[in-house]
Amino acid sequence: MTLVIHIINGPNLNLIGSREPQVYGSDYLLPFLENLKAEFTSFDIRIFQSNHEGELIDYIQTIIGDCDGIMINPAAFTHTSVAIRDALRLHRCPIIEVHLSDPKRREEFRHHSMIRDLVWSHIEGLGVEGYRVAMLRMAELVAK
Ligand code: DQA
Repeated sequence: MTLVIHIINGPNLNLIGSREPQVYGSDYLLPFLENLKAEFTSFDIRIFQSNHEGELIDYIQTIIGDCDGIMINPAAFTHTSVAIRDALRLHRCPIIEVHLSDPKRREEFRHHSMIRDLVWSHIEGLGVEGYRVAMLRMAELVAK
């Protein structure tokens, strides 16, 4: 049976490639993730992005029962959203937190992650490549 991995991205990540390239790099995220699908063909990778907290929560709820792993970059909601945290707690599957930049090396308000204590693993500061590293780690986690 093909394992289903959801890659969930929060606000403004649709603009990665053109948004603050000095911080996030100039690679376009969405095409990069489409290529990941082609690279990891043994998984059913589903990609979702929204700028709206409620839509992210609806998606996280919708995939209950149809999910073997979650990779999530909640973007700015990382630092604020109890609601996204609560939604992720509805899942038993491995969850990996991904950030393009390293929030710990940026403004203090980015240092705290609302989800850090409930994720299996976190990857930061590697730009879009971090999603590939996360996918490799996810492959290990779901194989266990
Ligand atoms: C981010 C880091 C967040 O602090 C920021 O709000 C983002 C992107 C990252 O991937 O580096 O939008 O999650």
